[in-house]
Amino acid sequence: MSSERSAVLVTELEKSYIDRKEQVKAVNGVSFHIQEGEFYTLLGPSGCGKTTTLRCVAGLERTDSGQIVVDGKVVSSHNPTVFVPPHKRDIGMVFQSYAIWPHMTVFENVAFPLRVSKQRVPGHEIKRRVEEALTLVQLEGYGGRLATQLSGGQQQRLALARALVREPKLLLLDEPLSNLDAKLREYMRAELRDLQRRLGVTTIYVTHDQIEALSMSNRIALMSDGKIVQEGRPRELYQKPATQFVANFLGSTNLLEATVQGPLDAMWSLETPAGQIRAACPSGVKPGDKVTISIRPESLGIHTQEPSSGNVLPGEIDMFMFLGEMAECRVRVGGSVLRTRQHPNVNFHHGERVFVQIPVESCTVISDEYGVAAPEYQEETEPEAVPA
Ligand SMILES: Nc1ncnc2c1ncn2[C@@H]1O[C@H](COP(=O)(O)OP(=O)(O)O)[C@@H](O)[C@H]1O
Ligand SMILES: [Mg+2]
Repeated sequence: MSSERSAVLVTELEKSYIDRKEQVKAVNGVSFHIQEGEFYTLLGPSGCGKTTTLRCVAGLERTDSGQIVVDGKVVSSHNPTVFVPPHKRDIGMVFQSYAIWPHMTVFENVAFPLRVSKQRVPGHEIKRRVEEALTLVQLEGYGGRLATQLSGGQQQRLALARALVREPKLLLLDEPLSNLDAKLREYMRAELRDLQRRLGVTTIYVTHDQIEALSMSNRIALMSDGKIVQEGRPRELYQKPATQFVANFLGSTNLLEATVQGPLDAMWSLETPAGQIRAACPSGVKPGDKVTISIRPESLGIHTQEPSSGNVLPGEIDMFMFLGEMAECRVRVGGSVLRTRQHPNVNFHHGERVFVQIPVESCTVISDEYGVAAPEYQEETEPEAVPA
C-alpha cells in the first residue's frame, strides 16, 4: 500500500492513563494505514484500547508517543509542540451515546458544527448544508422537531448528519449502533455502510461486535490489550485466524489441541483428542510439535453412513437443538465434543451413532511458533475495494 494514498497513518501509538496511582497502558504500540475511502474497523473486547486509539486520532487525547498523520498532515507526534487540536482536524465523530443536544431542534443540532466553525458560514449556506445532511440520513422534514422527539434510530442518524455536515475528510464512529435494539442495529448496519460507500468518506469504526465488523469493514484490526493482534479483510481474519484469540473472538470455533505426527499425502497427520486429523501445517513444523486446530462449526458435516472423503471420525450425538434458521448439533468424538451447525431440516437424537466429516481445507492449524496455515481465503469480488 503506498503511503501517498493513505488517508490515515498511525505509527507506534502509545497512550497510558494513571488510574488510582497505577499506570494503565491503554494503547501499546498500535500502527495502521488506512486508504482513502476505506472502512476500517477497530474490533476487540471491552478495555482493549479501541476508544483511546480513536480519541487520539480525533485529538481528544494527547498521545504519549507515536505519530498520527491525517490526509498528509502530521496532527500529533512525539514532538509535543506538534499537536493539531480536534476542531482543526478535518473529522466528524459519532459516539456511542450520540451526544445530541436535547434542548435544540434537529436543525440546530446539525447546524451547530457550522455555527462554531472558524470560517463563518452564511445563514443560507448553513440552511442548505443542514438540509443536505438531513436528506443524506433520511431525516428531511424533521428539522423543526426537538431532538428528543426522535426515536433511537433517528437520533442515531441525527448524530451522523451532524458528523457529516462539515463534509469531513475522516469519519470516526465509536460503537454508534450499540444503543439500538437488535433489529434496528441490523438495519442501520446496512444503511450506514451504504451511506459511507456513497460518500466515499474514509471511516474508522470502533466496535466490540464481530458481526458488525465482519459485515461492514474493508479491513479489520482485531485488538487485545492495547495491541493489534491481527489485521486483514473480514474473510481473511475469519478463515485464517493467526491465534486462538482471533479464532475465538470472531465467530465460534472448535479448538483442538494437536500433536504433529508426520507427513501424510502432501499434508500432515495430527493426533488430537478427537482422533487423527489430516491438515496443512505452517511451514517449519516437525513431528512432536504441539499445535491447535481451529474448525468452524459450519464446516463439519454429520452423516449416518461413512463418507469417503475428508477427515472422517466416528462419533455420537451429544446434543441437538433446533434454532429455526439452523440446528446446533454437538457430537462426542473420542475425548472431545465438537460443535456443529446443520441445516434445520435434519434431525438427530441424543446418543445416535454418526460420522463427522471435516474437510481437510476447513482445518486451520495454528502454531504459537510458526504461525498459521490455512488454505487461501477467497478474494472478495464485491467492490469492497476502496474507490480508486
Ligand atoms: N480516562 C481514563 N482514565 C483511566 N483509565 C482509562 C481512561 N480511559 C480508558 N482507560 C483505560 O484504558 C483501557 C482502554 O480503554 P478504552 O480505550 O476505553 O477501551 P475500549 O474502547 O476498547 O473498551 C482500559 O483499561 C480503560 O480502563
Ligand atoms: Mg470503547
